Amino acid sequence: MKKISPTTQLCGVILHPAGHSRSPAMHNAAFKSLGIDARFLAFDVIPEQLASAIAGCKALGLRQLAVSIPHKQNVIPYLDEVDQVASKIGAVNTITLRENRLVGSNTDCIGLVRALERTTPLKDKRAVVLGAGGAARAAIFGLLQSGAHVTVLNRTVGKARTLLTELGGERAGALEDLAKIECDILINTTSVGLSEDISPVMSKNIPEGSIVFDAIYSPEPTRLLRDAEEKGCVSINGKWMLVGQALEQIRLWTGLCPSEQILADAFDTAGNTLSQTKKTI
Ligand code: ATR
Repeated sequence: MKKISPTTQLCGVILHPAGHSRSPAMHNAAFKSLGIDARFLAFDVIPEQLASAIAGCKALGLRQLAVSIPHKQNVIPYLDEVDQVASKIGAVNTITLRENRLVGSNTDCIGLVRALERTTPLKDKRAVVLGAGGAARAAIFGLLQSGAHVTVLNRTVGKARTLLTELGGERAGALEDLAKIECDILINTTSVGLSEDISPVMSKNIPEGSIVFDAIYSPEPTRLLRDAEEKGCVSINGKWMLVGQALEQIRLWTGLCPSEQILADAFDTAGNTLSQTKKTI
């Protein structure tokens, strides 16, 4: 990696708490492989400091800022511009400095699409999204853009219906409805499985032969993915979404595309030094 010099550029991620972030490992590995003279740090920003943190980043000329939990929605009022995709999703996970303007984007949806497309094309597939939070919004948007047919199931059915109205998709329902739905790809965006060894759906309801993706990347594998594997389904870990969204962030800033494998290896190495249990988005 190039030595730090007066021309070295700074990027980072804002989140709270910050100790678990694997983004610095991924981005710095990508910068090194692409020969980009930049460094990427994690900044622990409490919600009360969000406005001043963003103003400080702009004043210091940080080139790109990744945005993670809990700031993805609250950061929007502090930006000069939010692109169409992020506006529709209602969340920003990337801020890029362009001609001294802070431009907000969302690469979570592309991250999910890339993660799934490693295994299958999405066009005309029947996708079921579990959950109706911010992660679900990005997933639904990405899936619809890719030509999939989307059903949204959530513990609170009203929230699933609201998402359908706002974003599109075909059906909304309760988590238990999975038992009676045709599904090629099952996508978990709920937080179930993050801190306990439980699954958002009963194993018997996981559709035979489906592809099952869990946005939770640690513990690995989650109960949902273990159940899916036991039923002979293809399972995809949330790591690939995190890799995909980071890759797209780097492309947005530099126009260059790092190797997916370099990011994935950096993600694994960082995980070996972290024991906390966290979710992709
Ligand atoms: P994010 O923005 O990361 O998606 P979120 O907005 O807090 O997070 O959404 C969390 C999702 O997990 C929601 O869909 C939530 O369901 P509700 O809308 O009914 O709250 C879901 N979730 C959280 N705990 C759950 C549980 N124990 N069982 C089922 N779903 C759960």
